[in-house]
Amino acid sequence: MELVCVEDFERQAYSKLEKNALDYYKSGAGEQFTLGLNREAFNRLRMRPRVLRNVTQVDPSCRILGQQLGWPLGIAPTAMQKMAHSDGEIGNARAAGKAGSIFILSTLSTTSLEDLAAGAPDTCKWFQLYIYKERSLTEKLVRGAERAGFKALVLTVDAPVFGHRRADVRNKFSLPPHLRLANFQGDQANGVVTMGGSGINEYVASQFDASITWQDISWLKKLTRLPIIAKGILTAEDAVLAREFGCDGIIVSNHGARQIDTVPASIEALPEVVKAVGNDLVVMLDGGIRQGNDIFKALAVGAKAVFIGRPAVYALAYNGQSGVEQMLSVLRKDLEITMALTGCQTLADIQPAMVAHESTYSKL
Ligand code: FNR
Ligand code: LAC
Repeated sequence: MELVCVEDFERQAYSKLEKNALDYYKSGAGEQFTLGLNREAFNRLRMRPRVLRNVTQVDPSCRILGQQLGWPLGIAPTAMQKMAHSDGEIGNARAAGKAGSIFILSTLSTTSLEDLAAGAPDTCKWFQLYIYKERSLTEKLVRGAERAGFKALVLTVDAPVFGHRRADVRNKFSLPPHLRLANFQGDQANGVVTMGGSGINEYVASQFDASITWQDISWLKKLTRLPIIAKGILTAEDAVLAREFGCDGIIVSNHGARQIDTVPASIEALPEVVKAVGNDLVVMLDGGIRQGNDIFKALAVGAKAVFIGRPAVYALAYNGQSGVEQMLSVLRKDLEITMALTGCQTLADIQPAMVAHESTYSKL
């Protein structure tokens, strides 16, 4: 049967992935309340379409931090993609490039940043950074990303430690032994192995620097001239600090609900961030984006671009690079239909008044 929506790819992936990997990809933290909320909150926003506005051509192209893109949807960084399919990060990044999307490579990738750059030369690439206790490791990643032509650094600010993902603890999650964290050598490459609990949490506790503060943005800015994007902001207060410390962009994100449960859905947190810094920083969002309407709603509320995490991993698991190409094309068509049916020829036509919270209507 033809796959016609992102959930169709997810179902395919569920039947292909083994339990250790599937549980790692799909889990949220704690009771997974926010995991559901990331979807439900989109459904609490109603579309307010405008009609009779000539939509023979719709054009979702945009410029983000100096990069010309086919549309405002990119691939969020997700770790260990070769566990999903042998095409791994390169397959995912090539598919993103063909679709005119940004690809963000995770620090914890199973393809090195050099190999990724060589394998997907035509894709606009950003590099996601985790800060290691051993700072020279992070410095090396920054230098490598600059040399390999990555266009921005995405510093993940919501993960000094990892959230409690129950399935990973129960499964004693480990990276399968034939795979490595390819940006590293030795212990840092081979360390996602259970010591009795979740191997990824144990790795992070031993390797990541939980002492990082806003001052480390200044440290990073001294190290590089690449734009810096803070990923994992959920409050106006932190958005203001990101501006103060010189970040170029923000990704409003709850890390796919994997860090702390009962935080707001990212779309719920977006308005306060846009209000606080939307004129000064490039505000973007990830979490729960699954259809054209979701992209539209985030843009209407004020995001300049959005990213998908799990959908790309699932499409990769389903059929490697061509699975991701197919999924992105489904999503792109869906956005184009949404734009046409709301009377929007370009992204500039997408206005705040085109979405309303369900409470606006509940008084009837
Ligand atoms: C992630 N995410 C993530 N974020 C990050 O900064 N570095 C990383 O290595 C990872 N790894 C990772 C693995 C897996 C399996 C998932 C599901 C997520 C978070 C990711 O970038 C993004 O914030 C969310 O996935 C977005 O939510 P959706 O699209 O999955 O709902
Ligand atoms: C995760 C990572 C790696 O959420 O950020 O599993």
